[in-house]
Formats: sequence, structure tokens, C-alpha cells
Amino acid sequence: MINSQDGVIRNFQNLADLEFAASLTKQEGWQSETFLELQSFFEYDPQGCFIYEKDGSPVGMCIATVYQQSGFIGELIVAKPFRGQGIGRALMQAAVQYLQNKQIHAIFLDGVQKAIPLYKELGFISICRSLRFFGQIQAEESPDVRTMNAEDLQEVIQLDTQTFGDDRSFFLNKRWQNYPDLTLVWRQNKQIAGYLFGRVGLGGWVTAGPWVNLIDQSADLTLLSHFQAKIGNQPFSIGILENRKSIIPQIVMAGLQPRSDPPTRMSLGIGSNFGDNDHCFAIGSPAKG
Ligand SMILES: CC(C)(COP(=O)(O)OP(=O)(O)OC[C@H]1O[C@@H](n2cnc3c(N)ncnc32)[C@H](O)[C@@H]1OP(=O)(O)O)[C@@H](O)C(=O)NCCC(=O)NCCS
Repeated sequence: MINSQDGVIRNFQNLADLEFAASLTKQEGWQSETFLELQSFFEYDPQGCFIYEKDGSPVGMCIATVYQQSGFIGELIVAKPFRGQGIGRALMQAAVQYLQNKQIHAIFLDGVQKAIPLYKELGFISICRSLRFFGQIQAEESPDVRTMNAEDLQEVIQLDTQTFGDDRSFFLNKRWQNYPDLTLVWRQNKQIAGYLFGRVGLGGWVTAGPWVNLIDQSADLTLLSHFQAKIGNQPFSIGILENRKSIIPQIVMAGLQPRSDPPTRMSLGIGSNFGDNDHCFAIGSPAKG
């Protein structure tokens, strides 16, 4: 527990804390940050999930996720009536300190424009924009793509650690458990050619990712077109780092629109960015795609 000004920073402890966290993401209109997603972070590492408590009531939160090489900070929200009092900064400082005590090389985050001064003040530097796309593409089922079974998943997890550059197997497993119908594997001559994990957020909001194409022609939409066929006639969102240059023109031509004011991927420390690989897309957040 950290005493900060007139409040206390503590870890998430129970269901009520998760419900509070989900109420904050809902108020902010972050459709993809559901109770289920927040619960995954809590199960992974409750010590990385921070709540700011003022006069005995929770008023803010932030989540630090530690992987093997790097860490990621997300879900920073302070309830509106309590903003501008230093609570966001205190939560960020707690999250950074927590990750700096781990054996990792770098910390990453996706920062909205208004919060960038705060992150810069804490030492983060900008890497590139973390673009968000939304829309529909031509649906096309491929005979080589199917939903993943448990064996596929184990193979995918091994490949993912190399491609993504860190171990996010806990989150891939969770995604498979929570959304088995939206977890796709693509095989060519029995070898895995790619994989894509989807999820459903508040109000039926669908997100695609993590998404990895392992074939040489990595800017290939086979998995995404199959995903569109699975979800039917409705739009979906997908986050792709600006520097994944091969895929961006393809998805825009296919019909996805970039959303205005995308966040910026920022880093603190030295280490390669999550998924910094020409085969790795849909990485708006390492755990979630
Ligand atoms: C971003 C946020 C967590 C900041 O919390 P806060 O408790 O108001 O922040 P603090 O009082 O500690 O202020 C720290 C800095 O945040 C920035 N900030 C202030 N108001 C802000 C706002 N409305 N939106 C974003 N950042 C803001 C400023 O740089 C401020 O520095 P200053 O005090 O030197 O001006 C809060 O505005 C919020 O919950 N916003 C909505 C969710 C969000 O955008 N989260 C960030 C995602 S990357």
C-alpha cells in the first residue's frame, strides 16, 4: 500500500474492485475493456492492478502488466470529479515503480494525446502512432482457416513467443477460453500460416487481434476475411502500429477506416517494442491485440 497525498494506492482485492474498474471503462466508452478483460489482468497478476482510494472509496485505477522482457501500462482512468488533483500521476508512478522493480528492460504504453505530457514527464518517449481502424471488409471463408483446438493453441503459443518477442501465453489462453468461436488458425500444408484472436466488447463491439501472419507475403487478408465471415455483416475494430507499413494500405483498400486522434505508443527504457516484427499485427495492446 502506498500513501499518496490524501489518498491510498492499493491493489485490486475482490469482485467489487473489478466492478469498479469495469464501471470506469464503461463511463469512458472503452467498449473493448469489459469486466472479462479486466478480470484476466487481475488473475494474471493482482499486484499489478492498482486502485486509488480517497476517503475509503475507489476513485481511480491503472494496470501494469509484466511480461518476461518488458512491461505494459494501461487502463489509467480517474473518475471525472477527482481529476486534476494529482491522482493520475500518482497511479502512473506506482505502476512504473512496480515494473521497474521487475527484471525487465522496457515499459510501453499507448497514450492519448492529452495524457502525453504526463507520460513525458515520467520519462516516456514517443515511438509511433498506435493506429485504430474500424469498419467492414469483404467476407470470405477460407478452407484453410478454422477455429483453434487445444493442440493448435499450444503450437500457436510457441510460435507467438518468437514472433511477438515475449510470452503472452496467459492472455492467448484466456482469449481462446473466452471466445473460442473467434479464435482462428490458418494452416498451409499442415504448417501454421497465421492466427487471429477476436473478442466481443460492450454492446456487441467486436475487436480483431492479436493477429499474426507467418507466411512470407505477410500482408495477406485471408485470416481477416475469414474473421469477417465469422462475425457476419457487422463492423469490427483493430489496432495496428503505424510502423507495420505492409498491412496498412491493404486493410484501408479492403474497407477499414482509420479513427481520428489515435494514441501514441511510448516507451521507457531500452528494449524492442512488443510485436516489432513484420508478421505481427493487431497489437493495440500486447495482451489484447
Ligand atoms: C488521464 C487521467 C488519468 C489523468 O488523471 P488526473 O488525476 O486528472 O491527472 P493529474 O491530476 O495527476 O494530472 C497529471 C497530468 O495529466 C494531464 N491531464 C490533466 N488533465 C487531463 C485530461 N483531462 N486528460 C488527459 N490528461 C490530463 C496533465 O498533463 C497533468 O499534468 P499537470 O497537472 O502538470 O497539468 C484522467 O484525465 C482520465 O481519467 N482521463 C480519461 C481516461 C484517459 O484518457 N486515460 C489515459 C489513457 S492513455
